[in-house]
Amino acid sequence: MIYNNNSKHGKNIFKLNVKGMVCDMAFVPINKLKPGMILDRDIYLYNNVTSKVMMLRSGQVLSEAYIERLHEFDILGAYIRTNEERTRIPSLKLRYPIKKELRQEALLSLKQVYKMFNQGAQRINVRSINQTMNISKKLVNSLKCNVEAKISIANLKLYDDYTYNHSLGVSILSIAIGLELGLKTQELYDLGLCALLHDIGKMAVPISIISKPAKLTEEEFNIVKQHPSNGALFFLKHHLANKSICEGILTHHEKYDGTGYPRGLSGEDIPLFGRIISVADVYDALTSVRPYRKPSTPTEAIEYIMGSSGIAFDLKIVKAFLNKVAPYPIGSCVKLSNGEVAIIVKQNDFNPIRPIIRLLKKPDVLMDLCFQRDVQNIVIEDICTITTEP
Ligand SMILES: [Fe+2]
Repeated sequence: MIYNNNSKHGKNIFKLNVKGMVCDMAFVPINKLKPGMILDRDIYLYNNVTSKVMMLRSGQVLSEAYIERLHEFDILGAYIRTNEERTRIPSLKLRYPIKKELRQEALLSLKQVYKMFNQGAQRINVRSINQTMNISKKLVNSLKCNVEAKISIANLKLYDDYTYNHSLGVSILSIAIGLELGLKTQELYDLGLCALLHDIGKMAVPISIISKPAKLTEEEFNIVKQHPSNGALFFLKHHLANKSICEGILTHHEKYDGTGYPRGLSGEDIPLFGRIISVADVYDALTSVRPYRKPSTPTEAIEYIMGSSGIAFDLKIVKAFLNKVAPYPIGSCVKLSNGEVAIIVKQNDFNPIRPIIRLLKKPDVLMDLCFQRDVQNIVIEDICTITTEP
């Protein structure tokens, strides 16, 4: 079952009180939901693409128990509103990079193929792989339609069900990187499929290890380290995927400096798909809500990736990633390290964590965090802290 967040009535904007000011926003992550907040959209549970059951209705006041329930269902957040209206700050709608229907189709297809692998890898056949390849083609074509646009990666986090959502997020980011690198259409299809399937070998790792809320023992980590080979060897043996796809699955945990696994490859000996997926995989994993740890902010995750370029990651891939993603989409509201709140106005190429912003308290003042010298000490700490009116 896929759990999802949806709106029927087209309300894409809600008003949130941010340190005494009201601004337009879009989405409150699960770890920032508080009792008393009011849902602005219905939350549905999906059985399949067409069948859904309402979980909570728009207008519902959240209680501790409801928030706990959302946690139980791994829902990553909700659209929230307040009844207060003061100064409205105009903002753009935050859009998920692919359409809702495609996302649902992708998640259901992924769930089927991952479960087949779990129930006995031999159940996976050419038909199920073709179905997943079709999803990859639709993702590529969807992202290609708007090739100039940056991917609003904050919005990749709207949905739940970690394994499938993670694979879909990694696939979208990988395709975006591939587009930036100028890969051909067929290569993009293969890359998208490779990323959708990159962690399928994890289905053979005991769930007690995968979801262990503490550091793994050496023995447990050795079991986890088998997942790239488990997945890749299966597809290779049964001729279900081509060489590039199998290599990408096998090498998505290799590191540029040779300290990764399973083979300790380094530099360009790591196949291109492996180098691309490793960046997308680490970004998506670091910023995801997990039951046992706080997610990194986009700034922290991107700083980690920038700091690891040339060490864990290929610098060329990191540059393509930085030029193609927007962790703080235009129109989103962010908290700065000096305590002020600002709206994102424009992105800076290659430095997505230092965009051009407008202070909420001084809407006439634009600040370029990348090129303006007097603001070099200011950093974006996170999508802003949100509180409801008492
Ligand atoms: Fe993995």
